[in-house]
Amino acid sequence: MSKSFNTPDKVIYVCTGSKCKKKGGKDLGKFFRGMIKEMGLKGQVEVVKTDCTDRCDFAPVTCMQPDNIWTAHTDERKAKEAFEQHILQQTAKQETP
Ligand code: FES
Repeated sequence: MSKSFNTPDKVIYVCTGSKCKKKGGKDLGKFFRGMIKEMGLKGQVEVVKTDCTDRCDFAPVTCMQPDNIWTAHTDERKAKEAFEQHILQQTAKQETP
């Protein structure tokens, strides 16, 4: 009955407030989930959709923790670049003793 409270090493917050959603925020969530699956990082990296982060002028916005990297006007190219630099490389480093 009780589930363990597991937390991921990294979290990608994707704003899906109305403005970000309109400008592709929802697709970015799918894109990141696809990357996580493809790289076998399920359980280590999680995507969390957020409501408006109050940066609508920069929509769509994402944030990667724990590096605290924010991306503005995020398209697939920017998303991939940030993922490679702040999720993949850092996660790979953590696995190396
Ligand atoms: S809707 Fe994303 S910052 Fe406002």
